[in-house]
Amino acid sequence: MRSLVHRAALLLLPLVESAVLVAPSAVAETIAGHRPSPDLAVGRAAYQQHCARCHGVEGRGDGYDAKRLYPRPRDLTEGIFKFRSTATGTTPTDEDLFNTLTNGLPGTGMPDWSHLDEGARWQLVAYLTSLSAAFTDAPPESVNLGTDPGPKRADHAQGHAVYEKLGCAACHGLGGRGNGPSAATLVDNWGRPTRPKDLTEGWSYRGGNRPRDIVARMLTGIDGTPMPSYAEAVSTDDAWQLAYYVRSLQRDIASTMIAHARRLEGPLPEDPDDPRWQEAPRADARLRAVVDTQGQINAPQTVTRLSVWVLHNGEAMGLRLMWNDTSDDRGTPADALAVALLPQGLGGDVVSLQTWPLRDTPSLDLCLWSAAQTAGEAREAVAKDFSTLFDGTIAGTVRESRAAYLDGEWTVVITRPLAPTDVPGAAQLDAQAIVPVGFVVWDGGNPSQRAVSMWIDVVLRPPKTRGQGHEAAPSKTQGGGGAIWAIASVVLVAGLGLVIKTR
Ligand code: HEC
Ligand code: HEC
Repeated sequence: MRSLVHRAALLLLPLVESAVLVAPSAVAETIAGHRPSPDLAVGRAAYQQHCARCHGVEGRGDGYDAKRLYPRPRDLTEGIFKFRSTATGTTPTDEDLFNTLTNGLPGTGMPDWSHLDEGARWQLVAYLTSLSAAFTDAPPESVNLGTDPGPKRADHAQGHAVYEKLGCAACHGLGGRGNGPSAATLVDNWGRPTRPKDLTEGWSYRGGNRPRDIVARMLTGIDGTPMPSYAEAVSTDDAWQLAYYVRSLQRDIASTMIAHARRLEGPLPEDPDDPRWQEAPRADARLRAVVDTQGQINAPQTVTRLSVWVLHNGEAMGLRLMWNDTSDDRGTPADALAVALLPQGLGGDVVSLQTWPLRDTPSLDLCLWSAAQTAGEAREAVAKDFSTLFDGTIAGTVRESRAAYLDGEWTVVITRPLAPTDVPGAAQLDAQAIVPVGFVVWDGGNPSQRAVSMWIDVVLRPPKTRGQGHEAAPSKTQGGGGAIWAIASVVLVAGLGLVIKTR
């Protein structure tokens, strides 16, 4: 174990300087004055209180929540750290660990701990470095990240050329959607399947999504994973150009619990590319992986977000759904999607898609689209589970649908009558309704995994226009999705012990 006193003394001197020369991989403000002298008993107590349920009492990554998380919580005794400012194969600096604690690892189960005061975070850092023999007396130095050219001097064409030259596309794909030819073959140091990051999902970069963070990832690698260090292969200038290019691939996420529909007159668009879809605002739903029957997750989550646009014409509702999927799977198992509604009369009952179906959960109104279906076919039925719809035990009623797959992205349009008479028990909506809708996505290339959204309120009634006084009370035909979501979260937390703050 590295001497803690020694480390503390080291820190007082070069902190300010090092923050300027080699800025840490994430945004934390590190003020030397707030750093208490290390007290392992304090660090250990904080660890047991906040970290042990995932990382285990001894830090071996075997806490009781561990199997429900993917990637798994790290074995902190091994000394392998993904997000460092230091060369590949070395330990992180104390500041790196502090930043990881402060920012968390977005898109994974690792929460951020910015609500703990700075002193407590430093005590945790000191405790972490006591857990592994990899931390030696001579802490490694941060890698020199070179000079940020600034966004004005960023040249995306040059960055793209570096992306091609270094072979990033082999894993991350030409457009960065994580769909390169090697993507589905990767395994990490712990023998578990892993996937290259979908670089377009800017919100889910674990080590930060700014150009500086991306340069740090390139020059230090992500240890424990197939993502190598390019320190020997790229100049810092090229690394910055590449980082600005990667930054330009990132899309924002309009994460929401509410999707506002727009009303059109006449037939609804069937073509996924019809410009009229743009009249409805986009709503994004974060998807979460569902645990298997053993309460575990054993595969990486490949579909992490779904974008939705809703149109209706008073008679029917059209949904345009878009999500990233690294492979176009139309065989068995096929890519598939279900739109879930609460059947008629199920207003008050609450069910979370993350735990559906369980033995006593109520049936749902499902509109299942599968890439394996005859082109343009989605089927709706009120069902007790998904499998009966998949295997044809329940035939369901065919709904108009169209689908297109392009470079790692599905776009599917499904149209459904607002008040269908051809499906017993189906949700009956009207043009004033606020309807809870949930989404379920299967990736045929990652078949053990199902990803689900929370319930989202789809607002069919027209938006309030300026100057309009009071509106007629909304007709909440199906009960409030917001309330359902809140209760579902509680059910989740209670039922699965998951209190995960991912961003
Ligand atoms: C809800 C579960 C959970 C809790 C609680 C949790 N972690 Fe983690 N932690 C994870 C997961 C999952 C990972 C692995 C993420 C990955 O590999 O991408 C992780 C990774 C880490 C890493 C490795 C970072 C790296 O660069 O590789 C450190 C360090 C860490 N956690 C420290 C802590 C500390 C300290 C606490 C308590 C203050 C804590 N964690 C609490 C789930 C958790
Ligand atoms: C051999 C496959 C492979 C190659 C080649 C590769 N990566 Fe990665 N990359 C990965 C994997 C796997 C991950 C996810 C690691 C993890 O966190 O588990 C990743 C993650 C990333 C991340 C996300 C880091 C974060 O904060 O979450 C960035 C950015 C990235 N890679 C950029 C690049 C760039 C730029 C190149 C080319 C210079 C490249 N990668 C080449 C496999 C690869």
